[in-house]
Amino acid sequence: VSLRPYNTFGMEVKARLFAVFNTVAELQQLLRLPEIQNLPKLILGGGSNILFTQDFDGVVLKNNILGIEINDLDADYSLVKSGSGVIWHDLVLHTLEQGLGGLENLSLIPGTVGAAPLQNIGAYGVELKDVFESLEAVNLSSGELQTFNAEQCKFGYRESIFKNELKGQYIVVSVTLRLRKKPFFNTSYGAIAQTLAAMQVQELNARAISEAVCQIRKSKLPDPAQIGNAGSFFKNPEIPVEQFTSLQEQYPTIPSYPTTPGKVKVPAGWLIEQAGWKGRRFESYGVHKDQALVLVNYGGARGNQVQDLAHQIIKSVQEKFNITLQPEVNII
Ligand code: EPU
Repeated sequence: VSLRPYNTFGMEVKARLFAVFNTVAELQQLLRLPEIQNLPKLILGGGSNILFTQDFDGVVLKNNILGIEINDLDADYSLVKSGSGVIWHDLVLHTLEQGLGGLENLSLIPGTVGAAPLQNIGAYGVELKDVFESLEAVNLSSGELQTFNAEQCKFGYRESIFKNELKGQYIVVSVTLRLRKKPFFNTSYGAIAQTLAAMQVQELNARAISEAVCQIRKSKLPDPAQIGNAGSFFKNPEIPVEQFTSLQEQYPTIPSYPTTPGKVKVPAGWLIEQAGWKGRRFESYGVHKDQALVLVNYGGARGNQVQDLAHQIIKSVQEKFNITLQPEVNII
């Protein structure tokens, strides 16, 4: 089975077996099949955070568990339970239509609801963990359904227990979020405030923020339907304050974000641009011209070419800044 339609990088690779599940029961049934039990398994949502460098000699399980349920919690909050196969941005739009706030800053992030907690998606000052209540996941070996609360998920910057200790052991089947009925906005990101001002919004509201975020993302990030990509290829590195201060002497304009005490987060896009990679094109692949953190497939590139490019970028940033970039996408 060709996986080309199932990864936003548009890599032409094959899987030995491919199965779609629409419900938890179907998934549990699949996991019991003898022909599947001993094969390596890869769970695919939107395929928007993955780089295939070779064929997958196992079974790809494509998540298609849909449905969104909204329940009143108290005067201030509602609980929104979503199937993990729902497209993330569809959930964002649905909750905004219902007058619920909390997801507006996370508008237009590619991928499915089930992938959101795995890497604690975040953008424009908000992370999934800020609105997260719990999730349900099926254990791949026992087929058992388990609930995880926020603490058990061990969320960090683009991290969760499912990328670490429990990697490859669970399939998320639903995610429950706690969303606000009364407005509370996060416009801490300069770009949002600027865009809202340009939009001449009379009274600040969640839909306007969502609209602003969509505009900003569209202006910087390539549309995977046109140019293959998986969003930010690297994580923004955290470096010790001392290292940042000495870099600042050499590069007074180096941008930064606040993060854990004693550390400073530096935008990888800036480091990559300074190292001269922004907009570089090697026939069928390259570094996006508007956002150096995004590697792109112009059509027909192979995964290992993009991976080689990533290695060269890591090496060059390492040499110039003594900072080691870590990939954010899953490399298979
Ligand atoms: N910059 C450059 N050159 C570039 C790109 C960025 O100099 O080519 C510098 C600029 O100073 C810019 C700063 O980096 O102001 C930050 O850039 P941007 O606002 O685009 O955000 P980012 O730090 O590169 C992160 C997330 C994005 C998220 C944005 C907005 C990571 C790995 N990426 O990118 O998430 O949308 O912030 O909050 O944390 C993703 O994870 O796939 C993703 C797109």
